[in-house]
Amino acid sequence: MTTPFRDDAPLAPPPGCPAHGADAPGGGPRGIDIPSPAGPASTGPASTGPASTGAGSTEPGAAGAGSDRPGLDELPVAELRRLYGPEAEADPAGLYEKLRAEYGEVAPVLLHGDLPAWLVLGHSANLTVMRTPSRFSRDSRRWRAFQEGLVGADSPLMPVIAWQPLCVFADGAEHRRLRGAVTDGLNGTDRRGVRRFVTRYTAELVEEFGPSGQAELVSRFAEHLPMLVMTQLVGMPEEYGPRLVDAARDLMKGTETAIASNDHVVAALRRLVERKRTDPGADLCTRLMQHEAGMTDEEVLEHLRVVLLAANETTVNLIADTMKMILTDDRFRAHLSGGHMTVPDALDQVLWDAPPMSLVAGRWATGDTLLGGQRIRAGDMLLLGLAAGNVDPIVRPDLAKPLHGNRSHLSFGSGPHECPGQDIGRAIAETGIDCLLTLLPDLRLAVPEEELTWTSAWLSRHLVALPVEFTPRERQAAEDSAPPAAAPAAAPGASGAPIPAPLPAATPFAGPTPVGPSPALVAGPRRGWWARLTGWFRR
Ligand code: HEM
Repeated sequence: MTTPFRDDAPLAPPPGCPAHGADAPGGGPRGIDIPSPAGPASTGPASTGPASTGAGSTEPGAAGAGSDRPGLDELPVAELRRLYGPEAEADPAGLYEKLRAEYGEVAPVLLHGDLPAWLVLGHSANLTVMRTPSRFSRDSRRWRAFQEGLVGADSPLMPVIAWQPLCVFADGAEHRRLRGAVTDGLNGTDRRGVRRFVTRYTAELVEEFGPSGQAELVSRFAEHLPMLVMTQLVGMPEEYGPRLVDAARDLMKGTETAIASNDHVVAALRRLVERKRTDPGADLCTRLMQHEAGMTDEEVLEHLRVVLLAANETTVNLIADTMKMILTDDRFRAHLSGGHMTVPDALDQVLWDAPPMSLVAGRWATGDTLLGGQRIRAGDMLLLGLAAGNVDPIVRPDLAKPLHGNRSHLSFGSGPHECPGQDIGRAIAETGIDCLLTLLPDLRLAVPEEELTWTSAWLSRHLVALPVEFTPRERQAAEDSAPPAAAPAAAPGASGAPIPAPLPAATPFAGPTPVGPSPALVAGPRRGWWARLTGWFRR
């Protein structure tokens, strides 16, 4: 299936997308209950406050309300808030609310180097930007700041926004070609196979720390599971898994061995592509190579890397935050033990309240237009405020109201770049958490909730550690260590879906392996692109 989007197509979601319903073409995704556009704009925020033409309004070239607003470059820099630095990182959600109160749906902010950009805070305005690529392009070369030479090669923004020939930076026909291959490749994944891998790797991870009766779930579980599963889905040999997990963690943490870790990953992907040429299989690598898009080997390698990184960091965050919520939130504890609240419900709540990516950077205006009452000029940069949009008072007047089954959050994006791996990410998180709760039924937090901390960067937030304790679990024979084929109905957190039978015994999980330097297999630019992708999350 190729991506159904045309640049100027009506605002239709991809067919079959779980985040959308047929009743919401161009409007809210499935289940959304959005009051009529009025917006905080109409309630009169201060400062350069919005003269909104309605939630998410875009009126190219219109001389209507908002056209007298100052452009981004006309705003006094000294009065704008920074999206980076200690204040922003200490309380990003608080910053978003201040900006919403001051400006409404779309606020001017300063990025690293005090470069101005628009932060989109409104739910509807975010959807408008994501679903209108003819006005809001993914091609960062359009950024006026680039064209005016204001962004140095060493800017911390570069890893995130420097253009590369990849689907994430492409629009139109080129995006359709590359994204079509990625989407078809991911859609070809056997969903039952995903759950089997998750079940097996969860059992292996629990096997490692189970006998001690205590564990730190971010570093011992959440940071391992997605990459272990993804290496199998892309077609990597079994033994690559643990070392790639370590390499990915090393890269994300920006340690001094990051370059060597990157080389290791690139070398592994290069070997994989070479091998699949003569030994194709039922895996993503083979599907990309054989796709009618006619990807070159280099494009296959680079897109495998995009997929691995996009999948890893987001799913790690989703698992960690959902486990934290399950262990600390009375609503979940009570409901889980009563059997009413399911793990999918917990995931939905986290996807609303703690999106794995808080911001997406970005989109670039193709022409002059209006958005949320602000005057956007051609070449302006816009940041998609997923976390801010998810708590927009227009769509969530009562944040305490449960959102079970409502998937109209922004956490997977929307429009032509909407996350193509969301089903896989959800399946990894849901099945992994289900299995963990089944294997360790009396799992509990080992520290007071107030001691849990997060690190924030401008694009995402990370739970630092989640210490837990439980009744020590005896080591099992490998074939006995996975949960039974059908989980007991009363198992805490059981989603209702039977947990698949374990795979045959695998290479035992080897634990952390030091990532040493690998031969210089890659030229500089590739190294840069890996850093750019990691920068999505850690900058
Ligand atoms: C479960 C947690 C995940 C979250 C919250 C998430 C979120 C997102 C978001 C918000 C975007 C859109 C960026 C934009 O609009 O520019 C995106 C794009 C993408 N995601 Fe995910 N993602 C997740 C998991 C995954 C997984 C498991 C995969 C792969 C198996 C994946 C592959 C991708 C790719 C390839 C793109 C780029 C698509 C494009 O630009 O056309 N993601 N993701």
